[in-house]
Amino acid sequence: MRRPNGHPIIARILDWTMRPMEKLRPKVVGRATGRVLEVGVGTGLNLAHYDWDQVQSWVGIDPDPHMRVRAEPRAEAAGQSGQILAAGAEALPFDDGAFDELVITFALCTIPDVDAAVAEMRRVLVPGGRLHFVEHTRSDHAPMALFQRAIHPVWTRLSGGCHLHRDAVALLQEGGFEVEELYDHGRTPLNLSPVHRGVARRA
Ligand SMILES: C[S@@+](CC[C@H](N)C(=O)[O-])C[C@H]1O[C@@H](n2cnc3c(N)ncnc32)[C@H](O)[C@@H]1O
Repeated sequence: MRRPNGHPIIARILDWTMRPMEKLRPKVVGRATGRVLEVGVGTGLNLAHYDWDQVQSWVGIDPDPHMRVRAEPRAEAAGQSGQILAAGAEALPFDDGAFDELVITFALCTIPDVDAAVAEMRRVLVPGGRLHFVEHTRSDHAPMALFQRAIHPVWTRLSGGCHLHRDAVALLQEGGFEVEELYDHGRTPLNLSPVHRGVARRA
């Protein structure tokens, strides 16, 4: 597994820059039920938005120790202390079908080997299980897509490995997920990328 360029300052900045996305989080994680895995928990900003009465068990993974150290107090506040593991999505340390539902928010953009990660997410999900997601994605407006590609070398360094020109929804579909719900949430104020939220089912 290749590790992201983790740094305490990037984790701190993430806490701040992700604030405008706060209103989307309950719409995604608030629907998760059963045995839930969250991939790329980051600083744990989703933890306050789960409906914990619907969650039978919860595990989060993130390879970046600087993210995890900020997430752990949030996990503790949510009653999930010690449930965040050091792991990358490309090699999930779980059995096939170990989870009823998966959650991923703004992490498909950052995972280095995203195809391997989607395959692993599919593997650990029960057949027919749901993936709840919100991601920024490649623009389908050609000049904007060109802009996203042009600023990639600088952006990816500043953001800890984020790719602006990945098509998150296509990656899920190509990896064996059927997108059942898809909502357009405009553009992120920070990098102007389109934001898509949805529910995908393991085909
Ligand atoms: C933009 S942050 C989003 C964090 C969080 N999901 C949120 O919504 O605030 C991207 C996250 O992906 C994580 N990440 C990077 N490489 C990863 C990998 N191989 N597997 C899982 N997560 C990874 C980063 O450490 C970071 O926490």
